[in-house]
Amino acid sequence: MLTIVVPTYKEADNLALLASAVDKTLSVNGTIYELLIVDDNSPDDTVNVCALLSQTYPVRLLQPTGRPRDLSISVIDGIEAARYLHVMVMDADLSHPVETIPAMLDAMLENPRAFVVGSRYIPGGSFDRQWGIWRFLNSHLATLMARPLVKCTDPMSGFFGFNKTCLPDTGQLQPIGYKVGLEIMVRGEFGDIIEVPIGFKDREVGTSKMNFGQQLKYLQHLRRLYFYKFRNRTEFVHFGVVGASGFIVDVIFFYLFQALGMPHTLARGLSFWPAVSWNWLLHRQSTFGHRPRRARLRQWLEFVFASMVGFSFNWSIYIALTSQVAFFDQYRMLALMIGVASASLFNFAASTWFVYSKTRI
Ligand code: GDD
Ligand code: MN
Repeated sequence: MLTIVVPTYKEADNLALLASAVDKTLSVNGTIYELLIVDDNSPDDTVNVCALLSQTYPVRLLQPTGRPRDLSISVIDGIEAARYLHVMVMDADLSHPVETIPAMLDAMLENPRAFVVGSRYIPGGSFDRQWGIWRFLNSHLATLMARPLVKCTDPMSGFFGFNKTCLPDTGQLQPIGYKVGLEIMVRGEFGDIIEVPIGFKDREVGTSKMNFGQQLKYLQHLRRLYFYKFRNRTEFVHFGVVGASGFIVDVIFFYLFQALGMPHTLARGLSFWPAVSWNWLLHRQSTFGHRPRRARLRQWLEFVFASMVGFSFNWSIYIALTSQVAFFDQYRMLALMIGVASASLFNFAASTWFVYSKTRI
């Protein structure tokens, strides 16, 4: 028994073909199923088409209201409303080969804790897209960015299936944008991810609703999933990236001040300030952007204070290593790097526990 959830927006012209193809495929084994169309109130003939189809096929139409139009939320609405425990999700535009449904269902039945994906990138899979180089790179970059989150070659796929009992409470699913499959894969309690090869076909009728806005949402979504999965490590890497950008600001001002005629010792002392302020602002806006806000001036002062402690730390380690150990005196760059690394660790600890934390210890 299977519920097939199909999110739709302006797909009236594809539904009859989809319903008959699904029925033809599933009737071979006599599989009991429902085709659950989750439509975001399309301004087309979807309602009439579904009414007509439901006379012949087990088609059910869901038209959620009271929220903005959204592919991922529609899919989650469909999963919640599904009549059966085995759920598959697929696009309405016939991009996903209906003939693969039985193989995917078999995989789900054999392994009840599996997340089964229709995959374009494993051997046997394909896509017939006439993509330009940018779209191709874009898609591969998007896939690559999700790889540390899940063991799946096609985490972007919109064709997947699972047993509903493996899902967390659906309230805990918070996808942004298009990648609801990735969201479920990361947050669900699955034993395995099983990939079934599919031949992906470009849609023939209607247009894709994917756009640049959706890609920006994907970045937001990724950040959220990384945070969910790696929590402190995500913050640490983010912290490091901001720190590296601060280092560039530091160097720029160091040279700028000298170009304005300052001696290098004074320039070194002054360039610390724009750099430390830059870091503070970026950490406030992005690294720790999800944490509760605190008063600016006071937080800035604390950050400066913490950074100065780190900076002295950095400097002392450098002095100690180069003056006490001949090896480091020879390789000063190494000593400098050890100093920077220790100070960064120190800064991160101070920031996460003190400067940006909700409650102060
Ligand atoms: N309910 C609802 N609400 N459905 C929507 C919405 C929406 O706002 N936007 C799109 N859909 C439906 C479409 O009608 C279609 O059935 C399905 O979601 C996929 O939308 P397309 O617009 O055809 O997307 P795509 O072909 O660019 O993207 C597909 O392939 C990608 C991988 O290349 C999707 O499957 C993506 O999830 C997938 O990442
Ligand atoms: Mn499509």
